[in-house]
Amino acid sequence: MSKARARRTSAGQLELFEAVRSAYQKMPDVPLDNEGLYNHVAQAVGISKQELSMRTPVGTSGQLHSLKRREIRWCQQTLKHLKLIERVHGERGVWRLTEGAKRDLHAAKKGVKLLAFSTDLGVAIWGAAADTFKRLEVPITLCFTSPPYALRKSRAYGNPDEHGIVDFICENLEPIIENLAEDGSLVLNVSNDIFEEGLPSRSTYLERLVLAVCDRFDLKLMERFVWHNPSKLPGPIHWVSKTRQHLNVSYEPVLWFAKSPLKVKSDNRRVLQPHSDRHIRLMAQGGEKRAAEYGDGAYKLKPGSFGKWTEGKIPKNVLTLGHSCAVNRDYRQSATELGLPLHGAGMPLSLPEFLIQFLTEPGDLVVDPFGGRIVTGLAAEMLGRAWLCTEIMLEYIRGGAELFRQYPGFWLNPYLKDLRAA
Ligand SMILES: C[S@@+](CC[C@H](N)C(=O)[O-])C[C@H]1O[C@@H](n2cnc3c(N)ncnc32)[C@H](O)[C@@H]1O
Repeated sequence: MSKARARRTSAGQLELFEAVRSAYQKMPDVPLDNEGLYNHVAQAVGISKQELSMRTPVGTSGQLHSLKRREIRWCQQTLKHLKLIERVHGERGVWRLTEGAKRDLHAAKKGVKLLAFSTDLGVAIWGAAADTFKRLEVPITLCFTSPPYALRKSRAYGNPDEHGIVDFICENLEPIIENLAEDGSLVLNVSNDIFEEGLPSRSTYLERLVLAVCDRFDLKLMERFVWHNPSKLPGPIHWVSKTRQHLNVSYEPVLWFAKSPLKVKSDNRRVLQPHSDRHIRLMAQGGEKRAAEYGDGAYKLKPGSFGKWTEGKIPKNVLTLGHSCAVNRDYRQSATELGLPLHGAGMPLSLPEFLIQFLTEPGDLVVDPFGGRIVTGLAAEMLGRAWLCTEIMLEYIRGGAELFRQYPGFWLNPYLKDLRAA
């Protein structure tokens, strides 16, 4: 094998290994079955469905095997030998992160707050959200965040179970809401895919969350956006592929609340999309030529309708945004080079980017209490908004810092410079 080919092969293996590792790290307390693992890895490294299921005769018996699945299981075995994952007792093909592997992550202890990095526009703080936002003096125009998922079994920090999740989110939001500007917004990207123990029925925590935010903070529900993610991994595997009682998931709710609905700063002119070629032709020809009525007369089309030149298309409230983005790839590469555990529950930059443009103006303050890789901070930075983000896990915030190197005034806490996984 040539040296160049050997280098390419080992880079590919490393990528595959990292994808397998991140599948388990994504939700450290949730066991993962092999079907879920294959899908996660295929998505992460770009293996097509056909490639994943293609079977090839192997050995003298000529038995058919999927070589890709076998490669993934080899990485799984390596992780097992490194004592990073363990088999879930009594379940076939179901593995989870070991307690030792979870120690690669360092959660800030209660009361600890450390300035991890900053730019001219913003600061990222390693610490628990509830400790950090208490005495902020600048009004917040937007709090956009994706809180930890509700887990079936709660953990000492971070992920509470589906019964405790509403209180957990509200306790962390309280100091932020106290400082929300009169024209400000709270936006929560939450999961719809939390199931009742052993059942294909979904938790109703989302309904409880909406009521709690409205009742406890006197905020008003403006919108339940649908974030349609066409590249979302298929699942939940058990209820979709095994019992076949569900359809594959492909969206997450994004709940938007306002302090004063009439004063809220949203403006759809900041997020106009390009018109389609067809619409441009329609405007150029002076609009519709025909007359018609729809919806029992509720909508009337007259000659000349849509003839007025407009700057762009007003987006619909279903936000179709794929998961893969250059920022995610840059983050994975930097965190891998630094030897840091990868954050597996990240969002694409396009989601905070859209909402920040829609709900704020340059110079406004945007915050994210559950910052992860500080992607909300990055979108705010790129759009000229001030930002403040917190994250409880040191390794995630350190990996995220690499995304900010090119921005004016970038400063990284020297104590974090050489942080490596234990
Ligand atoms: C769903 S992830 C957010 C991912 C982020 N939007 C991104 O794209 O990178 C939730 C994050 O909240 C962090 N977290 C959990 N409890 C926290 C707390 N009390 N204070 C601050 N961060 C916390 C978790 O470590 C996790 O990184």
